[in-house]
Amino acid sequence: MSTPHIAAPAGAFAPSVLLPGDPLRARWVANELLSGAVEVTSIRGILGYTGTWEGSEVSVMGTGMGVPSISIYATELVRHYEVENLVRIGSCGALSDDVALRDVIVVSGASTDSGVNRRLVAGYDFAATPDFHLTCAVVEAAEAAVAAADPAGGPGPSVRVGRVFTSDTFYGQPPEEMQRLGATGHLAVEMEAAGLFGVAATEGVAAAAILTVSDHLGEDTHLSPEERQVGFSTMAVAALDAIAGAALR
Ligand code: HPA
Repeated sequence: MSTPHIAAPAGAFAPSVLLPGDPLRARWVANELLSGAVEVTSIRGILGYTGTWEGSEVSVMGTGMGVPSISIYATELVRHYEVENLVRIGSCGALSDDVALRDVIVVSGASTDSGVNRRLVAGYDFAATPDFHLTCAVVEAAEAAVAAADPAGGPGPSVRVGRVFTSDTFYGQPPEEMQRLGATGHLAVEMEAAGLFGVAATEGVAAAAILTVSDHLGEDTHLSPEERQVGFSTMAVAALDAIAGAALR
């Protein structure tokens, strides 16, 4: 079987899939964290793998950047491969002064300038929220993964749960708009969560999103590539623990 954007046989994906934006991050999860991972798709360089995490079958696949790209892959995974749990793992830019580089944000809702979700509710504003139970599992796993990565309990990253802004643009975001978003309770800006939550609502499946703060818009600071990798690894372990638990429920 093959869809327009995924070339994998029926049954190639586990019911729970991690979704990093970068396909090379999907490969990293498969090679470094999963057991027995096999590549199941590589169309357009969007790599997907299925393996096991602590005995549970899980998959990981890149999504590319932005709402249209993640929407295509999420929809095809659900419709053609019977995926039930989708967890975005990505990076974000902090909008609030009390959010620091390296912090881990579990998304509780996503405002957006994308018009895609308005189609779902006759032109009204859609409440782009993740699945509550899956999100609770992600929060619990994130707190454990962050504590395990910093056993001395030093001034390590915090796990935050809150609202983010899903932007259609990376460049040209007016600083005063970003400030207003921070002042209205948005912890960070990223580019995919609201689209994923819209697809999950339409298709009747569960979705969640966990993000590492890779840059800070107010402070104009960012993580080095090495620091990004450490943050990504902690977040990926948290997401795997959460979906492995969810798959067993
Ligand atoms: N904007 C949008 N997405 C992002 C950013 C940003 O500044 N940083 C990380 N993801």
